[in-house]
Amino acid sequence: MSKIDVFNEKMKSQINMSWAQEEKVLDLLNVEDGKSVLEIGCGPGFVTEKLLNKYPNSTFTATDYSQQTINHANEYLMVDTNNRLSLIQDDILNSNLPEGKYDLAIARYVFQHLNDPSLAIHNITKLLKSGGQLIIIDVDDDMWGMLEPSIQEVKNLLKKFGNDQKAGGGNRLIGRDLWKLMDDGGYIDVNYLALPITSHQIGLQAFTKLLDTNQIRMLYSYGMLSKDEAIKIIDSFKDFFSSDDSYAMSLLFISSGFKE
Ligand SMILES: C[S@@+](CC[C@H](N)C(=O)[O-])C[C@H]1O[C@@H](n2cnc3c(N)ncnc32)[C@H](O)[C@@H]1O
Repeated sequence: MSKIDVFNEKMKSQINMSWAQEEKVLDLLNVEDGKSVLEIGCGPGFVTEKLLNKYPNSTFTATDYSQQTINHANEYLMVDTNNRLSLIQDDILNSNLPEGKYDLAIARYVFQHLNDPSLAIHNITKLLKSGGQLIIIDVDDDMWGMLEPSIQEVKNLLKKFGNDQKAGGGNRLIGRDLWKLMDDGGYIDVNYLALPITSHQIGLQAFTKLLDTNQIRMLYSYGMLSKDEAIKIIDSFKDFFSSDDSYAMSLLFISSGFKE
């Protein structure tokens, strides 16, 4: 499996794990069908697919700053979308999309990659219609969730990911800032929610996709982990999943607000 395949597989597993809960939150936030929706940072299209199915009368513009990723999404979503979907390469930090066009903008797991989240909010606001809604879904690695029994290697790994992402201008602690970003951006009726996804809800084995030994092997093969580190992590995952008493929870942060 190539590096891209491993990451794509992980993204697909992530949305499959949490979609049932995430769509309840969309309902709670009163997202209606029949809207013009902008999905920012759509990746390979796994979330786009869920949104297309949930909102059959909405039209979607799904963007990503990587043309290669848009090509992947195009391939993946090669289904009859009744012209409801446009896939466009666009950088939200320097967007060329039409202003005042969208009722709803959704950015899932994108803000953690941005070196200027306030600029992204500013740009999204221009793209929304007046009264349009912005929903951001992201993580905060200090509150990523919990494992019982706890695995120290996972904490070390998250720190490594966090440092790598920070070096590239991102921030895997963005979850804590989502409310303030929207408030500072002038949004009204801002809501801020934490959404736990637990092994009681979806089964412990579903978490093998998050605590994924293939990904550890890949990190080792790319020199991002030493052999000893990789073996230690894989062994700890095996121990964790072999016990019926193990418990896992991951936590997402969601913020929603409206352009005045
Ligand atoms: C972790 S993926 C999330 C994909 C999808 N939203 C999901 O939740 O599965 C983050 C995506 O954001 C895209 N991205 C990062 N910075 C961006 C930017 N400035 N403008 C648009 N997309 C961006 C990346 O190319 C990547 O595909």
